[in-house]
Amino acid sequence: MKLAVVKETAPHETRVAAVPATLKELASPGFEVVVEKDAGAASFFPDADYEEAGAAIADDAAAAVQEADVVLCVQRPADDVLKAMKKGAVLIGMLDPFDAGDLLKALNAREITAFAMELMPRITRAQSMDVLSSQASLAGYKAVIEAADRFPRIFPMMMTAAGTIAPVKVFVMGAGVAGLQAIATAHRLGAAVSATDVRPEAGEQVKSLGAKFIFLEELAAAGEGGYAKELSDEQKKKQAELVANHIRDMDVVVTTALIPGRPAPRLIDREMVESMKPGSIIADLAAARGGNCELTKPDEVVSHAGVTIIGHSNWPAKVPGNASALYAKNLSNFIKLLVKEDGGLSIDTDDEIIAGTLITRDGETVHERLKA
Ligand code: NAI
Repeated sequence: MKLAVVKETAPHETRVAAVPATLKELASPGFEVVVEKDAGAASFFPDADYEEAGAAIADDAAAAVQEADVVLCVQRPADDVLKAMKKGAVLIGMLDPFDAGDLLKALNAREITAFAMELMPRITRAQSMDVLSSQASLAGYKAVIEAADRFPRIFPMMMTAAGTIAPVKVFVMGAGVAGLQAIATAHRLGAAVSATDVRPEAGEQVKSLGAKFIFLEELAAAGEGGYAKELSDEQKKKQAELVANHIRDMDVVVTTALIPGRPAPRLIDREMVESMKPGSIIADLAAARGGNCELTKPDEVVSHAGVTIIGHSNWPAKVPGNASALYAKNLSNFIKLLVKEDGGLSIDTDDEIIAGTLITRDGETVHERLKA
């Protein structure tokens, strides 16, 4: 089997879809790897390390993918890369399936068998392949670290001869994978942490990390597969009241709320931002999906009434060494599902992990949610 790894070209993307360690792990007789030149440079994995892991280096993406049976990427590749792929080859990456209009056409034109890793089912067996979780954990950590760096005071309580410094108040909105890591990180830095979510079961996890759970029964909105669903208009009003009352006393707010396939829920409006103290920070992890805060600007750090709002659209790319290593491990676990004992590929759609992530095959869009 021939595997290709392309260099990412999307703005702000620093990650790479395979690292030398995962290539070594996949190595077997008949297994060949081609890595595009400098594919790992932005995450500090030099070409020489890939060569040492047995890969050949190609000068450009087209040369890397032209013979490949399987192509690995982080984000969807450019059209010319898809056109250079063999007809019927496999593409694995975060293909942004709900916004994939033109991509689906391009994939089907080449009869590419494409897997969108964001669609990984939330089942125990799939945990080691769950790219959303591995990347979200790092995003939650990094958001708190950057907020702490930008905040004009220290996080922990400190007793000194010159007086006692009170701990910073951190509020985490959305207690999923990113939110829980943000809570844990803020807690480790000594902050007094509170958090909210619309899934009542998140409460236990929040409390187990030493944070206070801010919740109202009437806001419960647990959807399918462990995800949240969108709130009704009445619930949104109640939530806005709850947030408005809480947020004005907060120093740092980390927002992580998402609903699959929908724009990010709007949780913080202009008035709420203006109620916060000057110097406060909002780190919006939902910036790429429109932001949880009304004033978030994707890929900008803006200041409004003294409040800094950080809107990076790609937080995991801020820690590319770890993000690439975890992502690459998720992908290599997934590849092991596709490779038969003789080294050939088998796409077994009776396996819910494969059926759940497969979006196109033989020139057709096959995923039910995308067809709908
Ligand atoms: P996510 O990234 O889709 O959303 C982040 C959080 O925002 C979620 O906790 C969601 O409930 C919350 N949220 C949505 N709308 C909100 C609103 N209006 N206000 C406040 N919070 C809101 O979700 P994530 O982090 O990917 O995962 C959610 C849950 O899925 C996890 O906590 C876990 O229980 C489960 N999970 C299961 C896995 C497995 O079994 N393989 C892997 C990863 C997660």
